[in-house]
Amino acid sequence: MDFTRNLLHWYDTFPHRQMPWKGEKNPYKIWLSEVILQQTRVDQGWVYYERFTSAYPDIFALAAAEDEAVFKLWEGLGYYTRCRNLVATARKIVSDFNGTFPSTYADILQLKGVGPYTAAAISSFAFDLPHAVADGNVFRVLARYFGNHTPIDSSSGKLVFTALANQLLDHQRSADYNQAIMDFGATVCKPKIPLCSTCVMTIHCQAFKHGVVNKLPIKEKVLQRSTRFFNYFAFSCGDRILVKQRVEKDIWNSLFEFYLVETGTSETWEAAKIEQVMSEQIGTSDYKIDHISSPFRQQLTHQLIHTQFIAIQLAAIPDALKDFRLIPRKSLNEVAFPKSIREYLEQQSVHQHLF
Ligand code: ADE
Repeated sequence: MDFTRNLLHWYDTFPHRQMPWKGEKNPYKIWLSEVILQQTRVDQGWVYYERFTSAYPDIFALAAAEDEAVFKLWEGLGYYTRCRNLVATARKIVSDFNGTFPSTYADILQLKGVGPYTAAAISSFAFDLPHAVADGNVFRVLARYFGNHTPIDSSSGKLVFTALANQLLDHQRSADYNQAIMDFGATVCKPKIPLCSTCVMTIHCQAFKHGVVNKLPIKEKVLQRSTRFFNYFAFSCGDRILVKQRVEKDIWNSLFEFYLVETGTSETWEAAKIEQVMSEQIGTSDYKIDHISSPFRQQLTHQLIHTQFIAIQLAAIPDALKDFRLIPRKSLNEVAFPKSIREYLEQQSVHQHLF
């Protein structure tokens, strides 16, 4: 499978994250790291992992610890149920299994506080068992690479993407494959401003090919979000403007728009931030910033859309934009745009500088 081969090639060839649990084979330590990382970022979890493994180097030490001491060590990590489950599970493994960590996926999944993701991680990292990790990060990578528009948070989406994740697993290298997809999702195929311009997977990436990297994955719940921030990169190349039709089950279906970067909060677009998008996502440094518009607002029935426009002149059309339509400036009036974009265009034409 191209996906699997390319992903492992990326993992084997390019420098990636060094983390203390990487390559670890001791199931106790892997379990600790995975429970810590369930709701915690890697940089924060790292410190706690080191604290725990030095205070409690094996499962017997953790099982024998006082509750309060373990809670003290967990302090600041939050979601304390994880900590309670950790101690209870350590004690159970010591009392019921003489301290031997369960070694099948089904048995690992029985442990308190261990769901399918953590069970797949432990099974593959510690025992090389063929179980693929599947969570929102994995789903994002797969939705983009395969251009799959099924909402990742729908029940059918979860089934489809989990099945796909398992099909793609390299059974000979389950541990590397799982760590690779986690690392790839966290460092390259990131939720915001993914590093498409240097990504080795773009040759076969459907989202990249069709210019919809920022639109995927689709989430059903997006429809319920009440305030959204749309940052439009209005690219021009000579006399023509780059536009694309919206096709998702979302607002403004079938209307046209510019290159969209949706963010969770309002962004301040300085040159350095624009340069980040241009180099990491669009893959060009050959551009000129025309202007950055003031913000626009559009109230829909259930959503307030904040829109801002960054007008950019390009010298040539980069690969990341080759699916966009090139519309002559004078024909922009014939294109169906959402109200915010139309307002912006009108403001531009009143001021006589359509880009
Ligand atoms: N998140 C969950 N498990 C992880 C791991 N093994 N490495 C990095 N991030 C993770």
